[in-house]
Amino acid sequence: MRILVTGGKGQLGVALQHALSRHEVRAPGHGELDVTSAGAVSEAIELFRPQIVIHAAASTDTAVAERDPATALTVNGEGAGNVARACAAAGVPIAYVSSNEVFDGEKGAPYDEDDATHAINEYGRSKLAGEEAVREAGGDFYIVRTSWLYGPGRASFPEKIIERAQADGALRGVTDEIASPTWTVDLAAALAKLVSSGRFGLYHLAGKGGCSRKEWAEEVLRRAGIDVPVEAVQQADFGLPYRKPADSTLANHRAAELGITLRPWREALAGHMRTPDGPVRRAVPDLQDRLLAQIPHHLVFREVGAAGRHPTVPVHRHRLPQPIARVVDRPVRTRGVESRVIHRAGPAVRPEGVPLVDGQTIEASLEVRGDDRLGTHPELLFP
Ligand SMILES: NC(=O)c1ccc[n+]([C@@H]2O[C@H](COP(=O)([O-])OP(=O)(O)OC[C@H]3O[C@@H](n4cnc5c(N)ncnc54)[C@H](OP(=O)(O)O)[C@@H]3O)[C@@H](O)[C@H]2O)c1
Repeated sequence: MRILVTGGKGQLGVALQHALSRHEVRAPGHGELDVTSAGAVSEAIELFRPQIVIHAAASTDTAVAERDPATALTVNGEGAGNVARACAAAGVPIAYVSSNEVFDGEKGAPYDEDDATHAINEYGRSKLAGEEAVREAGGDFYIVRTSWLYGPGRASFPEKIIERAQADGALRGVTDEIASPTWTVDLAAALAKLVSSGRFGLYHLAGKGGCSRKEWAEEVLRRAGIDVPVEAVQQADFGLPYRKPADSTLANHRAAELGITLRPWREALAGHMRTPDGPVRRAVPDLQDRLLAQIPHHLVFREVGAAGRHPTVPVHRHRLPQPIARVVDRPVRTRGVESRVIHRAGPAVRPEGVPLVDGQTIEASLEVRGDDRLGTHPELLFP
C-alpha cells in the first residue's frame, strides 16, 4: 500500500514508519508538509497518490494550546479538515489520530467509543474540532482516539521521570489525572492493522487499563531500579491554567471486535524499558553498569519468549564494563521462562568458568522455553 503519514517526524510518525516498513510510506515532517496549508496538502496527495493518509500531525502541547487557542484550532481543527477534504476529493480514506482529551473525565469508568464527548481544555477542544472536520469532509475515515503516548525517538514521560528522579532525588506525581499509557510501538502496529481492514469508523486504541500519573511514574522508577519516592499531589498543586480530564481511560471495544488489541500498559512499559538501545537505556547510560556492579560474578543473557514457542534468538553484544568471573551456562527459570545460553562466541569461544577480560565483547544466542507473554525483547538477568 502507498501510505502518506502527516507529522512524520513526531513520536507516532516515527513509530508508524517502522510499523509500516512493508509498505511504500511517505512521512513528511512539519517543515516539508504544513497541514494548515490546504494547497500543500492537496498537492502532496496528488503527487504521491496514497491509498490511505494517516494524519498524525498536531500541535500537542496543552499549555501552548491554552495560551493560544486560535493556533491550536488552526493546526488541529482546520489542519485535520484540510487533510480530510483533500482525501475526500481524491477518494482516499483518512485515519485521523485523536485524543482522550475530547472527554471531560467525569464518567467514573473507561470511555467507550459511543460516549458523549465534552472537552475541558483548549487542546481537547481543538482535537474535537478535528474529529468534526473529518466527519464533515464527506470521505471515508477512521478516527482513532489514543492517550499518553510514549516511545522511542524522543524523551517522553518515562525518560523525563528518570532524569528528574536522578537530578532531584524526589518526585511529585498527580493522582487526579488518570488515563491509559500507550506505547507508540503498539499503537503503530494496531493502526497498521486497522487501516488495512477497510472497516471505517471511530475507534479507541490505547494501552489496556489505566493509571494515574503517579502510578505511571512509580512503575517507571521500579522498572529502572531507581528508589526515589513519589509524593502524591493534585493537578491544582501545580497552579496550571488548564485542567486535564480526571479519568479519561479509554476502552477499546470496536477494534477488539476486529481482533486488534493493545497489551496492558504495564507490559508495554516493560517492553519499552527493555529495548536494548532504547531511550531509557540512553537516558540512564550507567544503568547496565550499575546492575552489573551489583552482581559481578555472573552474567546471564535472557530472552523473553512468546507463548508456547521455543525460539532460539541471536542476541546481544555487550562490552563488559568489568571482568566477569564466568558466563553461566545452565537453564535459568524466571517468571515462568526458562533460558539457556547455548552458544557463545567472542574473540574465542570460552568454556564455562573461564574469566572474560575487562572490555571484551561477547556474543550469545539463547534457547528460550516458557509461557511468558511479554514479547521478545532481550534483557540482562542476574541470578
Ligand atoms: N502525545 C500524546 O500523549 C498524545 C495523546 C493522545 C493523542 N495524541 C495525538 O497523537 C498524534 C501524534 O502525537 P505525537 O505524540 O506523535 O505528537 P508529536 O510528537 O508532537 O508529533 C506531532 C508532529 O506534528 C508536527 N506538526 C505540528 N504542527 C504541524 C503542522 N501545522 N503541519 C504539519 N505538521 C505539524 C510536529 O512538528 P513540530 O514539532 O516540528 O511542530 C510533530 O512532529 C497527534 O494527533 C496527537 O494529538 C497524542
